[in-house]
Amino acid sequence: MEHRRKKISVIGAGFVGSTCAHWIAAKELADVVILDINEGAAKGKALDLAQAGPVEGFDAKIIGTANYKDTAGSDVVIITAGLPRKPGMSRDDLLSTNAKIMKDVCTGLREFCPNAFVIVVSNPLDAMTYVAYETMKMPKNRIMGMAGVLDTARFKMFISEELNVSVEDIQAIVLGGHGDTMVPMPRHTLVGGVPLTELMPKEKLEALIQRTRTGGAEIVGLLKTGSAYYAPSASAVQMAETILKDKKRIIPCAALCEGEYGYKNLFVGVPALIGGSGVEKIIEMKLNDEEKRMLDSSAAAVKDLVEALKKLS
Ligand code: APR
Repeated sequence: MEHRRKKISVIGAGFVGSTCAHWIAAKELADVVILDINEGAAKGKALDLAQAGPVEGFDAKIIGTANYKDTAGSDVVIITAGLPRKPGMSRDDLLSTNAKIMKDVCTGLREFCPNAFVIVVSNPLDAMTYVAYETMKMPKNRIMGMAGVLDTARFKMFISEELNVSVEDIQAIVLGGHGDTMVPMPRHTLVGGVPLTELMPKEKLEALIQRTRTGGAEIVGLLKTGSAYYAPSASAVQMAETILKDKKRIIPCAALCEGEYGYKNLFVGVPALIGGSGVEKIIEMKLNDEEKRMLDSSAAAVKDLVEALKKLS
């Protein structure tokens, strides 16, 4: 019987894309194709990473390319192409530039890997996932945006630091769009099974929530020349792994809502069951009035962006 390794294509050989490739190789998850409009960057980084194989002991074929043909047969595609933020910019400021890049990328992908699962990372995340969905015209279970895993990871890391407990014992969820209106859910956050609300005063909790909301901007402010990439890429690769291993994890991600939570034809961060069929189900949590109001306003912000995009094109 012929066996073939899984194949993941990473679009964009910048900071997020190349670090995705690094995590994939280190986990020996799949062979990797790194595609970038800048062919030299894609080829150079692929070659460099492949040469780490003998040191780290991973067997993964890693190639760089500017040709979409090389992505054919991918099981998963992670899209990171697009500009990152500069200090003072919001993710929304990237809208028109990255929408053009996203259309360009998805037009290439549509031809060569119409059956892949697609994970979008480029910002503004929820709107870019919508653009990818519209361009690729694939079933909704095959396309999702990575944001919730990252926002949740940031929230967990801040909690772990504050309480001096293992990150592994924190269960948290952050819903809504990947922007300043995202909705961390303290009522549904558990530390070793204990509700977070019992473990820290309200003001402290509020401060951590706020830091989570602006977690990306905090890093942009420090880096000055780009945006975060270690945690975003780790998060995207975790989603890919969840699909490839059919793990059926419940993780927050930007999934197409068609009536869930009252939203129609909108990609926004919701808890989803992710497995071998991609987004297998959107989980509808019971929210209290305040949580629903916050999620609604976050969803409305995403909707406004998508409307703005439609006017642009
Ligand atoms: N096709 C393919 N690749 C492209 C295209 C295109 N049309 N346009 C740009 N790229 C590539 C660039 O050549 C560059 O290598 O996308 C890459 C982006 O890399 P970086 O500038 O390093 O940006 P990065 O930090 O990786 O962020 C990428 O992810 O988290 C988001 O907000 C972030 O939207 C940004 C994206």
